[in-house]
Order: sequence, then structure tokens, then C-alpha cells
Amino acid sequence: MRVLFIGGTGFISAAVSRMAIAQGFELYLLNRGSRIAHLPGSHGLTADIHRLEDVRATLQDLEFDVVVDWIAYTPDDIERDMALLRDRVKQYVFISSASAYQKPPAHYLITESTPLANPYWEYSRDKIACERRLMQAFRDEGFPVTIVRPSMTYDTNLPIAIGGWGSYTLAERLMTGRPIIVHGDGSSLWVVTHAEDFGRGFLGLLGNEGALGQAFHITSDEVLTWNQITETIAAAAGLEAEIVHIPSDFVAAIDPELGAGLLGDKSRSEVFDNAKIKRFVPGWEAEVPFAEGVARSIEWFEGDPARKAIDEERSAKLDRVVEAYEAGFPGA
Ligand SMILES: NC(=O)c1ccc[n+]([C@@H]2O[C@H](COP(=O)([O-])OP(=O)(O)OC[C@H]3O[C@@H](n4cnc5c(N)ncnc54)[C@H](OP(=O)(O)O)[C@@H]3O)[C@@H](O)[C@H]2O)c1
Repeated sequence: MRVLFIGGTGFISAAVSRMAIAQGFELYLLNRGSRIAHLPGSHGLTADIHRLEDVRATLQDLEFDVVVDWIAYTPDDIERDMALLRDRVKQYVFISSASAYQKPPAHYLITESTPLANPYWEYSRDKIACERRLMQAFRDEGFPVTIVRPSMTYDTNLPIAIGGWGSYTLAERLMTGRPIIVHGDGSSLWVVTHAEDFGRGFLGLLGNEGALGQAFHITSDEVLTWNQITETIAAAAGLEAEIVHIPSDFVAAIDPELGAGLLGDKSRSEVFDNAKIKRFVPGWEAEVPFAEGVARSIEWFEGDPARKAIDEERSAKLDRVVEAYEAGFPGA
């Protein structure tokens, strides 16, 4: 199968690209080459997806069995992709987000039929608008879309509700004994999925005709509280976390940007029913326990000092929230 990933070297997609190559897919990666210059076994196409003329020149007259756009976020991105790919793809996979599911959820167990509605987070509303446009194109013109909604998926990053996704910031805060914010009382339920588990399910959907016009999430069946997630990350680094519990509303009042990702997503208990992906990809189930997966992530960071980037701006934001909270609740 000839497959194009737009993006393909990111937090989820780098692992999936490596797995696709190992499974014998003829893989093309279109990105700017700034994260990973070349992934051995793939065909590298260097272009900025927002520079349409460059993209057309790079793609020439290539046709694909499958195109996955890992970095489409708005309906404009979808219109661009449809115009670009309509006549040269048998399956187009849109990477949406499980944050698009109804917030707050009317039922704790999420299936693919859970309504899509998120009044709290623009990112999720944009993903919903993309899905709607694509399903309209599927109905009106047979555009061969498959929608995949990842939930929090990690590999070379540390899954945390606020504060340093994608950087070493959380680990640095743990190591220096700085407070780690856990929203609420830390007992709400959440699911984190290793990129390799996601990837095995995901690759089973590529070239799968039954998946056209369908939407899927692909998550672990291991359900954890946020306290457990935080303590497990700390334990993987050989440390204990200085957890400060702060209500999500308080975080949102002090810092609306940090708050949107809590109120619009992670403050709500969410558990996923993975029956659909198991039906479409027989034999698939998530296999990497969180304690093992996050230990691998820490090991990855430890493998090269260049990976230990700290997001100082974000860390300062977290300190401001903690200071504001402790000013109101001395000794909290
Ligand atoms: N991880 C999660 O927990 C999670 C949860 C829900 C949804 N998602 C969705 O998953 C997707 C992210 O997947 P990911 O892990 O691959 O993403 P990522 O970590 O954001 O990586 C972005 C990828 O796109 C490339 N890229 C960025 N800007 C580009 C541009 N202008 N032109 C061409 N290439 C560009 C990057 O390479 P260069 O920088 O070298 O160009 C890289 O390959 C998003 O759609 C997100 O909404 C993720």
C-alpha cells in the first residue's frame, strides 16, 4: 500500500510511521523536516503544508491508497486537503480528537456514538467542524474519509493534564521539588494510551474499506485517576510528586488558556468503550501498561540531554496558579 502521512514525525505519528515502515507500507512523509530530517525506510517530501504551490510541486502526480493528515485542525485545512487529494486517494484519514466528545459527558462511558459538542474548547469545536465537513463530503460525493479520534496518546512526551506536554518540564519540576498541579481532588478517571498501542489499531484501519465513512477512537482499556497518573510518572523518574490539588475552575479563572484544556477535556472523567476498533481490527487490544510505557518515555528523555527542553513560560504560569491558590488557602 502506498501511504502518505502529512506530518508523520510528531508525538503520535513518529511511532506510527516506524511501525508502518516495519509492516512494509510504502510510506511517504510530507513535513518541513525540522523534527526528524529523514526516517529510514520512508520517502521524505519536504514542504510546508500551508504553502500549497510548494506542496503541489512536491507531490507532482503521485497517487496514494491512503493519505493521513495528522495536522489538520480547521475546516480550511479540510477544504485544502480535499481540493488537493480528491482525485488521487482511495482513503483519507482525518486525525480528530476525543476531546470533541460531549463535555461534560452525559455518560461516563464514551462510544463513537457519543454526541460531539464541546462549548469549552475552540480546538475541539474546530475538529468537530472538520468532521462535519468531511462526513458531508462522504455523503454528497463519496469522499473516502475515515475519522480517528485519539485520546491522550504519549511516547516521547509525558502525559499530564496541564504543564509541559511535549517537553521535559514536568520531569524537571519533579526533580527540583516544585509543586505539580493535579486538578480537583485527583480522583477523576482518565485514560492514557501508548503511541505503539494506538499505532497497531490505527494501521489496521488503513486500506480497510469497511472503515470508510466511519469514526473510531483507539485507546487503552487501563483506567487511572489523575493522582495515579501523576504518581506513576514520578515513580518512573524515581521520585515522589509534590502534588497540589487545585479546582479546575480556579485554574481557569487565573489562566483561561490552561483552564480550557481542563474544563473542555481533562477535568471530566472519561472512559472509552473500544468495542468498535476491536470489531474492525480483530485481535487488537492495547498492551502497554502505563507504568511500563511512561518508564520508556523517561528513558527516552534520559538518552540525550538535547531532548530535555524545558518550557519555562509554561512552568512560570503553573507557579502563578499555585501562588494564587496558596495565597487564598495558606498551607494548602
Ligand atoms: N497526542 C495526543 O494526545 C492527541 C490527542 C488528541 C488528538 N491529537 C491529534 O493528533 C495530531 C497530532 O499528531 P502528531 O503526534 O503527529 O503531531 P505533532 O506532534 O504535532 O507533530 C506535527 C507533525 O507535523 C509536521 N508539521 C508541523 N507543521 C507543519 C507544516 N506547516 N507543514 C508540514 N508539516 C508540518 C511536523 O514535522 P515538522 O515540524 O518537521 O514539519 C510533525 O511531523 C493532531 O491532529 C492532534 O489534534 C493528539
